[in-house]
Amino acid sequence: MTDTEYILAIESSCDDTAVAVLRGKNVLSSVISSQLIHKKYEGIIPEIASRKHQENILPVLKEALKQANISLNEIDIIAATQGPGLLGSLLVGFTFAKGLSIALKKPFVGVSHLQGHLLSPMLENENLNYPYLVLLVSGGHTLLSIVHSPTKYEHIGGTLDDAAGEAFDKGAVMLNLGYPGGPAIDKIAKTGNENKYKFPVTKLKDFKFSFSGLKTSLLYFLQKNVAENPGFIEENLPDIAASYQKTIVEQLLFQLWKAQEKYDIKNVALAGGVSANSYLRKRFLLEAEERKANPFLVPLKYCTDNAAMIGLVAYEKAKQGIFTDLTENPYPREFIGF
Ligand code: KG4
Ligand code: ZN
Repeated sequence: MTDTEYILAIESSCDDTAVAVLRGKNVLSSVISSQLIHKKYEGIIPEIASRKHQENILPVLKEALKQANISLNEIDIIAATQGPGLLGSLLVGFTFAKGLSIALKKPFVGVSHLQGHLLSPMLENENLNYPYLVLLVSGGHTLLSIVHSPTKYEHIGGTLDDAAGEAFDKGAVMLNLGYPGGPAIDKIAKTGNENKYKFPVTKLKDFKFSFSGLKTSLLYFLQKNVAENPGFIEENLPDIAASYQKTIVEQLLFQLWKAQEKYDIKNVALAGGVSANSYLRKRFLLEAEERKANPFLVPLKYCTDNAAMIGLVAYEKAKQGIFTDLTENPYPREFIGF
């Protein structure tokens, strides 16, 4: 693998169909088609997601090639997300990529979706060096890891139940804000008072996270107040959203800084869809300054699911000669250990 070779990367683990083209580790194009159809169901319907990937994958591929100003024949390496994710969704991108690899006679690299998020702080952060501590917060995962090198990870904590993104999404449904809830809560909370209502901040040992108790406490809080005043949610929406958001963020940052202290790591990063949250980003930067840590944020376009991060992992693996042998019949799978 040289820095002038082209990588075509495909990501389809959930509800975003994404294709990126990289030259070495430089991203030439990163195209994402988000499936808006799931909004009306207030969550992702796996069967619909895989059918939409099937429809989207070819137009998204063509657009990514066009934006990179390159033809398929010039691609040197094909990469795709191998897992974890929704099986029907993964299968579309993964088998499509395998087909391309066989047809074009180009080597194939299967990539862990989580490794993609964990390495995403390296996209457009030239000053970030290894090791770094990263809090990966997305719709499916809440993971605290130390990235020692592009292919060496140490997982030091995670959630016992829901992911941070689920806490946002399910909270938003209770507040009639629709799906996905994170961006909606983020927006409405900007005009609210985050200290108006108090929800319990979970502070577990051993870098464990838990959000199910918080979700239940929001439910009971709303039930009680709506019983007294049916207009309670609409009348107090910004304050409720801001207070709920603050509680999620406090738990996240509590564990992050505890880990930073214990492992004594200077470079600290946020990654994953929830790391697009403006309140989390603001507090992270402020608190990093107080602690004299070096904070790194992922550009918004690479926080949520994208194929650029998959391409970056493929680059690092290919550089070390790690390819996926298609004659061994690789298939999508849970892929947390990488
Ligand atoms: O990384 P991602 O696109 O997909 C997974 O791998 O899960 O993350 C999606 C999650 C959703 O739960 C969404 O509500 C959340 O990221 N999210 C946000 C924001 N933008 C996306 N949560 C809070 N604030 C945001 N601005
Ligand atoms: Zn993701």
